[in-house]
Amino acid sequence: MGAKHQMTLRLPWRKWPKWAYAAAVNAALETLMLAFAGDGALPVPATALFLGAQAHPALARWPQVCGWQPLRPLAAAWDRAGLERLEQPAGRYPLVLVLPGKSRDETLAWFALARELLEPGGRLLVAMPNTAGAARFEKALANACGHVASIQKHKCRAFHGVEDGHWNEEVFAGWRTLGARRVIPDTHFAVEAGMFSVDHIDPGSALLADHLPANLRGEVADLGAGWGFLADAVLRRCPKVARIDLFEADARALACARANLAGHPQDIHFHWHDVCEGLAGCYDAIVMNPPFHTGQATNVDLGRAFLKAAVAALKRGGKLYLVANRQLAYEAVLEASGLVWHNAGEDKTYKLLFAERR
Ligand SMILES: C[S@@+](CC[C@H](N)C(=O)[O-])C[C@H]1O[C@@H](n2cnc3c(N)ncnc32)[C@H](O)[C@@H]1O
Repeated sequence: MGAKHQMTLRLPWRKWPKWAYAAAVNAALETLMLAFAGDGALPVPATALFLGAQAHPALARWPQVCGWQPLRPLAAAWDRAGLERLEQPAGRYPLVLVLPGKSRDETLAWFALARELLEPGGRLLVAMPNTAGAARFEKALANACGHVASIQKHKCRAFHGVEDGHWNEEVFAGWRTLGARRVIPDTHFAVEAGMFSVDHIDPGSALLADHLPANLRGEVADLGAGWGFLADAVLRRCPKVARIDLFEADARALACARANLAGHPQDIHFHWHDVCEGLAGCYDAIVMNPPFHTGQATNVDLGRAFLKAAVAALKRGGKLYLVANRQLAYEAVLEASGLVWHNAGEDKTYKLLFAERR
C-alpha cells in the first residue's frame, strides 16, 4: 500500500473515503481467499456457502459455492460472475464463509446464522478489516468455539474454527437473537440489525415527512426506501396517492417495509433494485433521503446518482422532495437537471430541496 493508504487507514473507520473503504472490503475478501492458498491452505470442499457473498476470481475454480447477499449491487456482481445465489440462506454445508456487514449486531447474528448452516464437523471462516474490529470479533468467536486459527494480512484478519461438538451453543443462541426482527421503541416500525436507522426514525426523514404537502397525487416513488418510513408518511398524509413504488437495495429492509406498510389500502410495489441503474417508470412525485455512504465511507456520488435517477423519472409537472445533510452538495445536480428547484427549509443538520419538472 502507498503512503496515501497508510495515512488514511489511521483515520477512524467512519471517516474513510470511498476508495479506502472499497480497498478495505476487497482486502477482507482477499484475506478470506488467502486461507485457501499457499502453505497450510485449507481444503476446498465439494460445496460451500458464502454469507455476504462477494465475487472473487478464485471462486470460479471451486466445485460449488452458493452465495447469499442481501445488497442488490453486490448480489448483481455475484450473478454476473456466474455463481449460484440463494435468495435466503438455507441448507447445511461443510464450509460457511462469512464477510460481515458493518454493524456489530449484524456481524454476531451472521456468526450464529453461519453456525446453524454448518454440517457437523464443518468449518466456519470469517474475514474482516482490522478497523471493523476484527480482533474483537475473532476473540468473541474463539470464546464460542474454544479455538480459532487466524491469518493476518492486508490489514485484515481471516479466522476459522471447526465444529467439534463442543461449541458454546448458548453464545450462538444469544447472537442469533441480535438478528431477529424487532420494533423501534415507541413506534410500530419493524427493523433488523444492519439496515439503515434501526434504533430511531432518522431525523432528516422526519423533517421531510413533516414538510410533505398533503396534496401529492397519482404515482409516487420512494428511492432508497429503507424500512418504509417515508412511504408510510406519504400514504398517511396524501389520500390522493394511488400507487407508491419503493426502491431499495437491501432486501432485508425491503422485507421490513412490506410488513410496515401492510395496513395501507393503496397500491404498493416493492422493488429490490439498485437505484443507480435508473428506474423503469415515470412518477408524479418522488421522495427520498438518498444514501451517501458505501459501507461506512462517505460517497456523495451515490446520492448524486440517486438525484439523476429521480430527475430522469419525473413526469412533466412531477415533483421531487429530497432531504439531505446540509454539507452534501446536491444543488449543482439540480441546477444542471433543468428542474425548477428551491431550498424549502433547513435546520442545523438537514436541508430540504424541492424541485419540479415544468
Ligand atoms: C438514508 S437511507 C433512507 C432510508 C429511508 N428512506 C428512511 O427515510 O428511513 C438510504 C437508503 O438507501 C438504500 N440504498 C443504498 N444504496 C442503494 C442503491 N444503490 N439502490 C437502492 N437503495 C440504496 C440504503 O439501504 C438505505 O436504506
